Amino acid sequence: MYRNKAIAAVLSTTLLFGSGALSVAAENPGNNGGSSHAFDNKVIKKIDADAMYNTVDLLSKQPREAGTEGEKIAVEYIKSKFEEYGYETELQPFKLEGEWNAGTSSVTLNGTAFSGDVRSFSGSVNKSVTAPLEFVGLGSPTEVEAAELEGKIALIERGVFNFYDKIQNVLDAGAVGVIMFNREGASGNNFGYTYDGQNIPAVAITREEGLELVDQLNTETIEATVSVEGASYEMLTSYNVIAKMKPNPNKDTGQIVMIGAHHDSVHGGPGANDDASGVAGVLELARILAKTPTDTEIRFLTFGAEEKGLVGSYHYASTLTEEEVNNTVAHFQMDMIGSKDAGDLIMFTPDGEKNLVTDLGAAAGARISEVVDYGELGRSDHVPFYNLGIPAALFIHAPLEPWYHTPEDTIDHISKEKLQQVAEIVGASVYQIARKDTPALQNARVAPGPVDYDYDDRPL
Ligand code: BES
Ligand code: ZN
Repeated sequence: MYRNKAIAAVLSTTLLFGSGALSVAAENPGNNGGSSHAFDNKVIKKIDADAMYNTVDLLSKQPREAGTEGEKIAVEYIKSKFEEYGYETELQPFKLEGEWNAGTSSVTLNGTAFSGDVRSFSGSVNKSVTAPLEFVGLGSPTEVEAAELEGKIALIERGVFNFYDKIQNVLDAGAVGVIMFNREGASGNNFGYTYDGQNIPAVAITREEGLELVDQLNTETIEATVSVEGASYEMLTSYNVIAKMKPNPNKDTGQIVMIGAHHDSVHGGPGANDDASGVAGVLELARILAKTPTDTEIRFLTFGAEEKGLVGSYHYASTLTEEEVNNTVAHFQMDMIGSKDAGDLIMFTPDGEKNLVTDLGAAAGARISEVVDYGELGRSDHVPFYNLGIPAALFIHAPLEPWYHTPEDTIDHISKEKLQQVAEIVGASVYQIARKDTPALQNARVAPGPVDYDYDDRPL
């Protein structure tokens, strides 16, 4: 089940339990609800919840929305801490789409300029097309099919289906442009998106004007021109922070373990728990592991633009070589690990299946405090790594706190105990792979045991 032989050899002797639910090994001294092993103590005794709390406090003093100065300040701070701990550290910039500058758009009908306001859809191509106008209702596949749209401009009513589907339906039917009018009950014409590959000019008009056009089409044919000019997304730069340290060459297994969090916050949000808490966890583990001998490369990563659609982690994942992907045995993502007001710790995987990361997390939990359950969820930076076939999981508390994505996501809702607990479990799990005496199952005194842990579909 592990993807390469070297990994399989090390991990099977280390863990044996893989992704299956094995019952608790009777002779396993670690799985007794809270007595950690000596090797766990090498990591967990060093974790300093006050230091993590202070990091959250510092980072959450200002919003860190991706592409803003607030993000840049946070990124420089994180980089300086990694460097202070002795890591080779890199800021990885990547482009991010900011505000849509709608440019100038126009519509003409049978040669006469349309009198209403015309606004380009976000993402529309700059292009001018002239063709017969055809009304296709809401743009459902049946309506589109009935309309014979090849080479025509589609007039569509907003609502019921999403923008992507509507545009794709008419595009697939051969339409060359789109005019969409607003849905029932909605005013104005500031709406609409086109997506990558939907390369036809698309514009929005008001509902009233759209309905007039529908009426007009009932009595006459209209040759329309749709034109979008000078429209573009503002281009912003966001960053990933990448810190790594190779183990001693004589002891290097060639394997890589990743520990990640996202440093960006939502717009205007202090993002103390989401996700200054995860960054604090990454920095604290970087601090203590810098002085701990390992046989595995550990990468400490904080991603930008997670809140914009996992943009930073997808970018970072796309820059990994095939060799790096094959050598990466685990990705631990910490996102929202410190809320006083959230539920218990849970490990989420995008497919709801156990993997090496959840196996290790559950076992470390059992040794340190209590076993950790798992569930199914994407919605964070573990997803791009999972997509590459790397065992990955999100460590988070659920149900969520009421402050999620609000201006109240502040330091006064952060719990040092929660931060400590997650850093211990992730730290012990990582060390289980990275410590030099693995594979260690044969050595009874240091062997961690597999644990039974359950699927939990508790609400978020
Ligand atoms: N920290 C959250 C992830 C999260 C939210 C996990 C709620 C579990 C429950 C993350 O920062 C976030 O808000 N992610 C976005 C997804 C992204 C693709 C924009 C979300 O869930 O809306
Ligand atoms: Zn988050």
